[in-house]
Amino acid sequence: MAEVRRRGPSPIRGIHHITGLVGSAANDLRFYRDVLGLRLIKKTCNQENPTSGWHFFFGDRLGSPGTIMTNIILEGVPMPKTVEGRGSITDVSYSVSPGSLDYWRERLTAAGCACSDRPARFGDPVLHFRDFDGISSELVGCEDTRMPELADLPDEHQIRGFHHATLAPRIPELTVQFLVGVLGFEVVATEGSRTRLAVGGNEPGKLIDVVERRDGPWGRHGLGGLHHIALTVDSVGDMEKWTRILAGAGLIVTGARDRGWFHSTYFTVPGGINMELSNLDPGWTVDEEIDSLGRILSLPKHLEAHRTAIEAALPAVEF
Ligand SMILES: [Fe+2]
Repeated sequence: MAEVRRRGPSPIRGIHHITGLVGSAANDLRFYRDVLGLRLIKKTCNQENPTSGWHFFFGDRLGSPGTIMTNIILEGVPMPKTVEGRGSITDVSYSVSPGSLDYWRERLTAAGCACSDRPARFGDPVLHFRDFDGISSELVGCEDTRMPELADLPDEHQIRGFHHATLAPRIPELTVQFLVGVLGFEVVATEGSRTRLAVGGNEPGKLIDVVERRDGPWGRHGLGGLHHIALTVDSVGDMEKWTRILAGAGLIVTGARDRGWFHSTYFTVPGGINMELSNLDPGWTVDEEIDSLGRILSLPKHLEAHRTAIEAALPAVEF
């Protein structure tokens, strides 16, 4: 009998989106759309608990993977502030051109955000700030050929997308071992206690830094913190294959969930970091034209029957 070979999944392509938890829809819009200049590409509810609040997606004009910052908005929900500690995703970093950091320092300061220079990282300058809800964020000045085509900022200063995310896992060596051995990351650089890993290419939007933090508090999810990092896979079929691999490695994996514009499967990697795999189909234009993304309340098919109740429950927001 001919041997039947089961093909493995296509490799992971880089970061798809990064998700935070925040407490104010108005602040979220004002910060990511009006200050950072990103495009609101989709507004939906928190699909795990549809009447609990909004979920906004911001990104480049097309909502390209590697540019998408999303926030679950728990307005009026009695959730404590996040504790950034061991087991946290501590920072989300965006890339801008190297000459843009002075522009951004001035723009963020004018918006009321305290900025501070951090030591150069792998040779690139880093500017730290927090969004209006406290999410720890950075701009990295670097060469990045992506052009986000955002309408409201001068081209030379636009945020190109994610540069990297920084993790402070509980046991950093376990996390590095897992990212390399199971998910296919490569270690591309080290600097002090920081290890840079890349997946799908050694370039902005495909990088994750693991830092060793041997003391200080354990991290805790809460408002003003980063909740998970989603990585891009090619298809739902690939997601299913990766789900089997992750389960085989001993992880609890949710399996693919239909989010309306893509599917997602969730898991926690050793070291305590929440991650997700997302594919790209059917994409943002399944329910809106590309030029009018982010205007309607978008819901996946299985939530459409509850649209009236969801619309009634979501806090009023002036878009
Ligand atoms: Fe997500």
